[in-house]
Amino acid sequence: MPCAACLRFTDDAEIRKINREYRGIDRATDVLSFPSAAFCPSRTAGTAPQLLRREWDAEIKACMLGDIIISADHARMQAEEYGHSLKREIAYLTVHAMFHLMGYDHIREEDREVMRKMEEKALNKAGISRVDDDLLVEKAKEAMQFSYSPYSHFRVGACLLAADGRIFTGCNIENASYGVSNCAERTALFKAVSEGAREFTVIAIAAEKTMAWPCGICRQALNEFAPDLRVIVACGDERDEARLPELLPHSFGPSNGICEYLGKDETNDK
Ligand code: THU
Repeated sequence: MPCAACLRFTDDAEIRKINREYRGIDRATDVLSFPSAAFCPSRTAGTAPQLLRREWDAEIKACMLGDIIISADHARMQAEEYGHSLKREIAYLTVHAMFHLMGYDHIREEDREVMRKMEEKALNKAGISRVDDDLLVEKAKEAMQFSYSPYSHFRVGACLLAADGRIFTGCNIENASYGVSNCAERTALFKAVSEGAREFTVIAIAAEKTMAWPCGICRQALNEFAPDLRVIVACGDERDEARLPELLPHSFGPSNGICEYLGKDETNDK
């Protein structure tokens, strides 16, 4: 269901005033959220869709989740304190508040953990990850050192970033029976999927001799889980990148409607 929220930036003086007026707390804060729907405890927008539907706004053709107010003063201060960019801090505060608007809270430790994981996932999906491209390339180069390639002598390493923030590395593993060989990308992907990861945002691929774009089989394998994957290739100091749809146009995958799993088993969709 399409949803919308109203986001406003202000300063410490004004957010303090709003905090005092609406919550009886006379101090400035980083972010305030005012949900439109009153979800019962343990219910969220996802588990109480009827409540959400009442907030349908015909003009914007979306359910209005509520209002978010961010103090730019606080965001700037916190970005410096945490040593990350203002962009990341604002994205984090927005995502955090969005989850509040959808009925999540972090009073109990276990709820806090759930919320943290979802926040990280949302930020990763938006491409605002803690893990930057340099780190992914570095990890891919490290993985390349483990390449087992006595036949081609073409060493490749890959590093895949999952939407939940985990990273998985892999190298190419060849075989005396050539066809059995596995590329670095699929090694990383299969490691990841076998450890529960199902969504990915970026893969970095490092090769020693030339830049190595993923082979056709790897493109298809990656398309299964990450049809919009960002693909970075690196060789020495050289780097290039593309999106998977550019590398695998007119692809065939789960979106063709043959996948039973999609949207049915949320427990697997971590
Ligand atoms: N290879 C990869 O691991 N990834 C690529 O993107 C291209 C090729 C491996 C497969 C084989 O072990 C060697 O490189 C030569 O083809």
